[in-house]
Amino acid sequence: MKRLPIIAVAVLWSVQALAVEGNAKRGQTLFQNCMACHSLAADKNMTGPSLSGLWGRKAGTVPSFTRYSDALKSSGMVWDDQTLDKWLADPEHTIPGNTMTFRGIADAQQRADVLAYLKQATQPGNAQMAQQMPQMGGMMRTSVPNLKKLDAEDRVQSVGYCKDTYEVTTADGKKHKIWERNLRLKTDSSEDGPTKGAPALVPAGMMGDRADVIFSGPDEIGAFVKSNC
Ligand code: HEC
Repeated sequence: MKRLPIIAVAVLWSVQALAVEGNAKRGQTLFQNCMACHSLAADKNMTGPSLSGLWGRKAGTVPSFTRYSDALKSSGMVWDDQTLDKWLADPEHTIPGNTMTFRGIADAQQRADVLAYLKQATQPGNAQMAQQMPQMGGMMRTSVPNLKKLDAEDRVQSVGYCKDTYEVTTADGKKHKIWERNLRLKTDSSEDGPTKGAPALVPAGMMGDRADVIFSGPDEIGAFVKSNC
């Protein structure tokens, strides 16, 4: 009889520990779910804002990120262990009307793991280290590839258009014929984007039938793409 309370306390304690203790190593792997949209480097914004310096920051306040929803900006949320846990559990209902297209992480332990990792990795100056940490497999891209220095086979010289087909000529002399629905014309004006006058041909999609041509800015698109039937 005497031992019962001790067991009860021990069980309670371990349940509580499970709920709050995150494993940063497991969290790094789980952060793959975020990496397509979020960088940890300061002011490196992708689909979502950079997460650098996240703890203690008011939601929607990275000055260099220009695509925040009004919902997030006016949420009054300040990011800490509790608010981030709530947000990641159910983004849609935590801040209704936000534009993060991510379902959330239902498992409390997994959220604790991601947050344990993020708490370290989002500290200013830690991003470099975080991204150099060993990663599993070759699937993980921490960010978009830099397009400033391109091999001849990736450097676009001209883009012709006839009927339903784009013909992309690259600097190695090759001509790539691509169905118009399979080619996307994009721009990247950031430091990772291509040099002016040297757009990049980038394979896209899992099947190998799609491609992007990425220009340094929208003005270049008209200059490069010509109808030539
Ligand atoms: C498909 C892209 C996408 C994925 C995946 C994604 N996010 Fe986001 N995230 C966004 C966008 C876009 C916003 C801005 C939303 C808005 O303004 O309403 C955002 C906002 C945030 C914010 C608020 C930032 C701020 O400056 O206030 C945090 C924190 C965040 N995301 C964390 C995460 C984490 C952690 C993951 C992975 C578990 C993740 N996100 C997955 C796109 C994404």
